[in-house]
Amino acid sequence: MTPDAGPATSGAPVAATAAPEAPGPDAPGPDAPGEGGADVVPGAGPEREVGVGPWTGDWPSGDHWDPDLLRHGDRRNVADHYRYWSLEAIVADLDTRRHPFHVAIENWQHDLNIGTVVRTANAFNAAGVHIIGRRRWNRRGAMVTDRYLHVHHHPTVEDFIDWARSEGLAVLGVDIFPDSVPLETYDLPERCVLVFGQEGPGLSEEVHRAAQATLSIAQFGSTRSINAGVAAGIAMHAWVRHHAFGQ
Ligand SMILES: C[S@@+](CC[C@H](N)C(=O)[O-])C[C@H]1O[C@@H](n2cnc3c(N)ncnc32)[C@H](O)[C@@H]1O
Repeated sequence: MTPDAGPATSGAPVAATAAPEAPGPDAPGPDAPGEGGADVVPGAGPEREVGVGPWTGDWPSGDHWDPDLLRHGDRRNVADHYRYWSLEAIVADLDTRRHPFHVAIENWQHDLNIGTVVRTANAFNAAGVHIIGRRRWNRRGAMVTDRYLHVHHHPTVEDFIDWARSEGLAVLGVDIFPDSVPLETYDLPERCVLVFGQEGPGLSEEVHRAAQATLSIAQFGSTRSINAGVAAGIAMHAWVRHHAFGQ
C-alpha cells in the first residue's frame, strides 16, 4: 500500500492536523458502547476543522482508499500518511508492525483513565489493550483511537493471568508497592504485559502476587502517586526506549 495521500499528490486542502479527533456520539455518557467519529475539534469553530477536504483531481487507485473520505474529506485524528485510508486498511497496516508489548488496566470502579491508556497504546502501537474487571469503560479520553487497536476484556484477574501465560508474556505490575523495583533501571522484557491499577485502590493484590515484578516510577515531589493514565504513558514509553530503536 502506498500511504501517499498527502497534499502534494492530491492537491486537497489541508488544515491543521494536530488537533484531536472529537470523541463522537458515544462520548457524553460514562459508558457509551458505540464508536464515535465526529470530526471537528470541540469548541474550535468551523474555521478550525482539522484534516483534509475532498480529494481534488483524479482519484487514486488502490483498495486502501475510502471512497467516502475521498469524496467528502478526511477529518479524523489520524497521522497524515493515513489520510483517506479506510479504517480497515489502517488497522491492517498497523497489524503488520505492532509492538510485542500489551497493556492492561483494572476496571473495578469505572476508571476514567482507561481512554487515555487506550489512546496512548494506539500511539505506541501496542499489540493490545486489556480491560480487567468490568467490561464497560468510559471512552471519552480514547478519542476514537480504540477503533484502530485490539481491545480485549477479561472478567477476572485469573482469566487475564491465564491468557498472559498462554501467550508466554511476562506480567509486569506497575504501582508503588514496598517491593516495587524502579522502572527506570528494570530490564523490560520485549514480550510483556504492563498492568496498571486504578485511581484509589491501585493495582489489586491478585495482580501484584501473579506479576513477575511490580515496577515503580520515580517521583520527587510530595504527591503519593501520579495519575494512572500518565503512569501508563511513562511505562509504555520506557518500553519504546528499550526496544523500538534497535539497541
Ligand atoms: C493513584 S495510583 C494508586 C495508588 C497507590 N497504589 C498508592 O499506594 O497510593 C493508580 C495507578 O497509577 C499508577 N501509578 C501511579 N503512580 C505511580 C508510580 N509512581 N509508579 C508506578 N505506578 C504508578 C499505578 O498503576 C496505580 O495502580
